[in-house]
Amino acid sequence: MKETQILKTYDVERDIEDIKKAAEILKNGGIAAIPTETVYGLAADAFNPDAVEKIFKAKGRPSDNPLIVHISQFSQIYSIARSVPESVKRLAEKFWPGPLTIILPKKAAVPSVTSGGLDTVAVRMPKNPIARKIIELSCPLAAPSANISGFPSPTAFEHVKADMYGRADAICDGGKCGIGVESTVITLAEETPVLLRPGGITLNQLKSVLGEVRVADAVLNPMGEGEKAQSPGMKYKHYAPKARITVCKGGFEFFKNAAADFDSVLCFEGEEKFFPDKITVTFGKKDDPLTQTERLFESLRELDERGAENALARCPSAEDLGLAVCNRLFRAAGFRFLREKKGIIAGLTGPTGAGKGYVSEYLRELGCYICDTDKIYRELTGKNSPFLNVLSRNFGQDIIDGEGNLSRSLLAHRAFKSKDSQEKLNKLTHPEILRISFERCRNALESGADAAVIDAPLLFESGGDKKCDVVISVICPEEIRLKRIMERDGITEERARERMSAQHGDEFYTDKSDYVVRSYSPYNICEELSDFQKKYLSGE
Ligand code: TXA
Ligand code: MG
Repeated sequence: MKETQILKTYDVERDIEDIKKAAEILKNGGIAAIPTETVYGLAADAFNPDAVEKIFKAKGRPSDNPLIVHISQFSQIYSIARSVPESVKRLAEKFWPGPLTIILPKKAAVPSVTSGGLDTVAVRMPKNPIARKIIELSCPLAAPSANISGFPSPTAFEHVKADMYGRADAICDGGKCGIGVESTVITLAEETPVLLRPGGITLNQLKSVLGEVRVADAVLNPMGEGEKAQSPGMKYKHYAPKARITVCKGGFEFFKNAAADFDSVLCFEGEEKFFPDKITVTFGKKDDPLTQTERLFESLRELDERGAENALARCPSAEDLGLAVCNRLFRAAGFRFLREKKGIIAGLTGPTGAGKGYVSEYLRELGCYICDTDKIYRELTGKNSPFLNVLSRNFGQDIIDGEGNLSRSLLAHRAFKSKDSQEKLNKLTHPEILRISFERCRNALESGADAAVIDAPLLFESGGDKKCDVVISVICPEEIRLKRIMERDGITEERARERMSAQHGDEFYTDKSDYVVRSYSPYNICEELSDFQKKYLSGE
């Protein structure tokens, strides 16, 4: 066991001596827990591999899970990131110091232990003045949350002490953390920015600066087997107390009845009185996500302290800051849900350029599992896929080269030369794509998604619509489609019109659909889908 110094760091001026002690320990290769505005971090000199190594050891953290490098002034980013796009400056201007972590290409000077072996690195400038002062007096600090790996993150000195006493060289007592959940993590290392972990800076705030931002599937859904994590942290069990948590998706009446089978409830403030014979722990007010982030991790620890074994938890709304609450709570529950409404599989289709992509992105943000059939087609016809044998038996061995690659042009040439051959190809590919799609959707529903959406341009043609619980079609006026297709595919107006005329008219879609989205812009989707959302996606 290590000797752990307890330092008092409530006020930058008054407690400057203890702040200096913490900085000294860090400069000399030690590890110290420090307060931030999100959760407590376990810090070490980000550029000292031996010091960083100690963090992994103290937390029992898997070595491939990278750390965030904390800075106190913007210029430090240039010693960490290989390139700093313009958008980072705009984000920093608005949200730094604050709970936002940005993933960027890494400079060689950042040791590979810090970045978990990745070529990218996470950077954040915390708002907490104590944290910033400690960095200022020492150096950029690598700091994950100061909990033992897998347990809830610490939001109060007592939590850190419980986890890190005897493991860290020092623990700074800076009282309670304000926000209570870890920072928002966004990667700019890809073409479109991707939100990897929701936190204090919301998706809408990010969009206000960046325009388009994608939400990673793993934010509200468990990772599929064999799926590659965009952020290594996504794949590990997280935030879990010892108590077994089940999240109840449904109204309060349903929750009250369902609670009979549990020894404890995790509910919103004011609801305790309905459960006189249970262990009750609250996590904020129902309609106030900031009170929920503040309390969530503490409430999970409290369940354990009070001996809860099997808890039923209320499900918060996933809007705005609520996305961060759901993300942590669902993981703490290992994606175990009890639901009032049955999860559904929705088919999503529409002609090219109508804006299906916007709609599927919107549904993803609402927590739907999205199954992209184009992507499945690419998987099926990817290098060495067993399905290539089926294709080559039907269209000639020479469509596959010696290295197991499909010649797409040769296949297209043979398949599109007659109606019969095209039908032959469809008869082979459509059932296989649908089989895989429905299998993935059913898995997603089983692990908690309210809805799984099959994004399929040929939903009706393949017969997939008949197997879906509901069908959503996306249509839009021709002139808007025309523009979108020209822009998206970089083609002339003539070619775009040709492409559109080869497609079905709107009635083909609307006649057979339960919901029709008229998508004039990415911004009217919300209204168009409000009935669908109310019926299938809202908790209450
Ligand atoms: O609010 C916070 O961010 C807190 C305080 C202490 O600043 N820190 C924190 O760190 O939450 P940690 O290590 O518990 O979470 C960092 C997350 C992990 O999920 C990790 O996988 C991800 O960020 N991450 C770090 N570097 C990454 C990279 N290069 N690419 C993708 N994900 C990365
Ligand atoms: Mg953590």
